Amino acid sequence: MYANDLFNDKVALITGGRSGIGYGIAKDYIKYGAKVIIASRKEEPLAKAAEELGCAYKACDIRKTDQIEALADFIKAEFGQLDILINNAGGQFPAPAEIISEKGWAAVINNNLNGTFYMAQKMANTFFIPQKSGVIVNIIANMFRGFPGMAHTGAARAGVENLTKTLAQEWAEYNIRVNAIAPGVIESSGLDTYPDAIKSFFEDVKKNNLMGRFGTVEDVANVVLFYSCPLSAYISGTTLYVDGMDHLAGNGMKLYKTLKAMMYG
Ligand SMILES: NC(=O)c1ccc[n+]([C@@H]2O[C@H](COP(=O)([O-])OP(=O)(O)OC[C@H]3O[C@@H](n4cnc5c(N)ncnc54)[C@H](OP(=O)(O)O)[C@@H]3O)[C@@H](O)[C@H]2O)c1
Repeated sequence: MYANDLFNDKVALITGGRSGIGYGIAKDYIKYGAKVIIASRKEEPLAKAAEELGCAYKACDIRKTDQIEALADFIKAEFGQLDILINNAGGQFPAPAEIISEKGWAAVINNNLNGTFYMAQKMANTFFIPQKSGVIVNIIANMFRGFPGMAHTGAARAGVENLTKTLAQEWAEYNIRVNAIAPGVIESSGLDTYPDAIKSFFEDVKKNNLMGRFGTVEDVANVVLFYSCPLSAYISGTTLYVDGMDHLAGNGMKLYKTLKAMMYG
């Protein structure tokens, strides 16, 4: 679909690149010539994924600024540059808002909002600002009409969408473009982590999707490639929904109602 040498001489960092959507994104960058580093918390599966992909890896928890610093040092020593940052790492758990604990709320905000900021700031200061070039793509989620059933991730992802607009404007003078992608339900390893009742909710989403299907990892990766190549040179600060229109026409309350039925019958 793209020219084979599109990302020759480019270095791309993909957080959460050991699994699911991040793995697919890493695979595509390698296919189109980039040098890739994947980063996530669990070293063993991360090393295995890097071996399969033929790329570099470094264990890093995006919530820990000392680990992000070590990751930046590693990239500098190994590659001397970074051109593309894909903030894809993230995670959440379904729960009605009234029972989310302080600890659970903080964990999701820390992972999905703070981690993205820490990573963007460090990589911008270390590479993109001095280089006067860089691309950041933030993978968020469809929270267009709120996120009933996952209030914490909805708030965090809305925060990242707004952060995307701010960073795009502040860093335009350094020739850094910042965009976001909001996937709908994507058929990937991320879905395996949910209980059966939620998996049946996902099947319902699929049935009711106006395009009659889940999204694929490729659907997301294709837009990541677009956002990080010269085809999108005049686009920054935007969010693109890759969701078969679920943000317009999906049943936003269905997850919440499924959760309530699970809990109280
Ligand atoms: N699949 C979907 O339908 C869907 C829809 C909308 C948005 N999303 C979002 O898209 C992203 C990728 O999703 P996916 O489906 O590919 O899920 P996944 O397979 O669960 O991938 C999440 C990745 O993030 C890493 N990660 C989580 N917390 C981290 C942390 N604190 N520091 C570093 N790495 C961390 C995980 O690796 P470790 O466990 O090794 O850290 C894992 O590789 C996530 O942000 C997800 O919430 C997914």
